[in-house]
Amino acid sequence: MSAVDLEAKIPNNVDLKNDKRLLRALEKWQPKFREWWKEMGPSDYNTDQIYLRTAVGVGKGGWAHFDYVKMPDYRWGIFLAEPVERTIHFGDNIGSPIWNEVPGEMRNRLRRLIVTQADTEPASVEQQRLLGDTAPSLMDMRSLFQVNVEEGRHLWAMVYLLHTYFGADGRDEAEELLERRSGNADKPRILEAFNKPIESWLDFFCFTTFTDRDGKYQLASLAESSFDPLARSTQFMLTEEAYHMQTGENGVGRVLHRTGELLAEGKDPKSVGAMPLDLVQRYVNAWFSVSMDLFGGEDSTNAAESFASGLKGRYREGDGIYKDPKALAQAYKLEVPEGNRLVEQEIPLRRAMNGLLLDAYIADCKRIVSRWNRDLERLGVKETIELPSKRFHRHQGVYADFDFNPAGELISKDDWAANVDSWLPTQADREYVASCMKPVREPGKYANWIGPHSVGVNEQPLDFEYVKFH
Ligand SMILES: [Fe+2]
Ligand SMILES: [Fe+2]
Repeated sequence: MSAVDLEAKIPNNVDLKNDKRLLRALEKWQPKFREWWKEMGPSDYNTDQIYLRTAVGVGKGGWAHFDYVKMPDYRWGIFLAEPVERTIHFGDNIGSPIWNEVPGEMRNRLRRLIVTQADTEPASVEQQRLLGDTAPSLMDMRSLFQVNVEEGRHLWAMVYLLHTYFGADGRDEAEELLERRSGNADKPRILEAFNKPIESWLDFFCFTTFTDRDGKYQLASLAESSFDPLARSTQFMLTEEAYHMQTGENGVGRVLHRTGELLAEGKDPKSVGAMPLDLVQRYVNAWFSVSMDLFGGEDSTNAAESFASGLKGRYREGDGIYKDPKALAQAYKLEVPEGNRLVEQEIPLRRAMNGLLLDAYIADCKRIVSRWNRDLERLGVKETIELPSKRFHRHQGVYADFDFNPAGELISKDDWAANVDSWLPTQADREYVASCMKPVREPGKYANWIGPHSVGVNEQPLDFEYVKFH
């Protein structure tokens, strides 16, 4: 393990200074990244002082430093988790040494995996670039920027892999990562959820709850990879991701808490500019379903090959929770539409790797929704938020060409059309939510549609000046 070099132009723990060719290449990419940040990163706030966390190493407990930073001066670094002694622990090559270089025959598949993951990082920053203008509190504004700079760092982590291990192809991919634009018709981002606008803070909190959480599961399965630099890189990214998902889970939780308080007082949330429960439910339905699509088809030979070759493991594969690390002996039950009913099919487990990862994700989302509902119940509210079925509103996988209601029942096109406005956000919902998005900039104060945080950042009080405007 090489030492952490924080003084370098690009902070790192990968001994960059002793690889002159790589260092030069990354130092050439750095100003282009900064240009991208200025053009597509958060609007208007580049001269303000933001109280931010910066990764300064990978040691347990002491990996981050908090201080006021102007975002363009953020120290985006390259940090890989400490190496551990291990051999390949799943797929066809169990027991063989892990790879520190890319095996030739896996080059294309691995590059595609890395580029697809990498593309989501700048995409989300682009999607969120206008939200600073309507932050419901200073601390929320700071959280947004924290998430944004860290997605920028994740891009760095992936670009390091592309430059180091994929030669000229990798360098081209690194350029293209700064050229695609979220939602752009000519040069869109790769995955659909990352081309959808994040118009409001309700979208942002749903995105960080559901879409960032897809990221967690993708990163976790790459953290099992036999290609060790990828495994170590994604392991460390997960450390930062935890805060992003917390931002979402607590954010939606605080929205619901505020709504719950009003309902308990017998008030209509809309009468005071807060969020009605049925509207929040529609946003949950939309972001949860679009995020499920990111897992790809439930039945996938591509996923089977990535598993077999040791590129992508199951969730927590390394914890020894699976009896059969080759995943050859079992089958996966999948309900597939046939005519106007669902029929149970069995597919070989390896082909169901996306489906399995999706199941782990859904279980996690269920836990979060229950937590929100327990809070509503404590406030005396009878209504709840429900996670829709995994078949609802899908555009990828076995359910994509069919219509299902949120309960997961197969329905007709007419049925869908007659009910879609009560299931997914309408234009009127979006306009209402937009009308509630008024910035609050006084330390410790919150917009009327959301409850306060329960704790501050880095043990600071809630009324700390998390953003100092110049
Ligand atoms: Fe990320
Ligand atoms: Fe994230």
